[in-house]
Amino acid sequence: MKVLEVKDYHEMSSIAARIIIGKVQSKPDAKLGLATGGTPIGLYKELIQDYRSNGTSYESVCTYNLDEYVGMDPEDPNSYRYFMEENLFAHINVPESQIHIPDGTAVELEAECERYDLELNRGEGVDIQILGIGSNGHIGFNEPGTSFSSHTHIVKLAETTRKANARFFRRLEDVPTQAITMGIASILKAKQILLLVSGINKAEVMKQLLTTDEVDEQLPASALKNHPNVTILADEEALSLVKNADLKT
Ligand code: GLP
Repeated sequence: MKVLEVKDYHEMSSIAARIIIGKVQSKPDAKLGLATGGTPIGLYKELIQDYRSNGTSYESVCTYNLDEYVGMDPEDPNSYRYFMEENLFAHINVPESQIHIPDGTAVELEAECERYDLELNRGEGVDIQILGIGSNGHIGFNEPGTSFSSHTHIVKLAETTRKANARFFRRLEDVPTQAITMGIASILKAKQILLLVSGINKAEVMKQLLTTDEVDEQLPASALKNHPNVTILADEEALSLVKNADLKT
């Protein structure tokens, strides 16, 4: 894993945007793996800005989102489908038919997981996967204890995750208890992975991830150590508990 320390959220977002834009310009039919949460919003703003001023085209790009809440209608403002529409898709020219997000309202959830894996595995792998990290080390919605060989599956959300995400909802009781998520093995199939980390709330988990060689299912993000092309773009606050001398990547 390559760790790139950046000053702050703004710098993290603009470097990430440059990487994505560079990929889309050199490979117009790139497959992009996308994430939700507060972390990538700045990146998406930069992509929109660039689309408006430079016209980088997403006409042939395909997008694959990591996860979706179970039972959440795509029209619900708390669904990840809605989040992506608001924060990115409605503002660039990616065709609807090239957008992929698990369907949290599917009646047969297991079948929906299989369908999503088939979509993901069609043709070449994802070119760049954007990831955030939960403060318990989750990636996508793969909570601690998830098998590293997992593909798209249903998860029960950790209470810490529900509490962390409650800020997007009216009340904690409204946060779903389950989600569909790409598994760790599905995520690791991406050719390149960009993990974005910002803020003091992520300092403890960055310390856990970066100061030991250990790859442990209790820390889902440690699976990234098994991947040949991972860049962590983390800001000063997120790295504030890690000294350069401690880094084990
Ligand atoms: C959410 C998402 C993850 C995201 C993480 C961090 O639960 N499922 O994909 O990376 O939590 O969120 P944030 O960026 O808001 O800190």
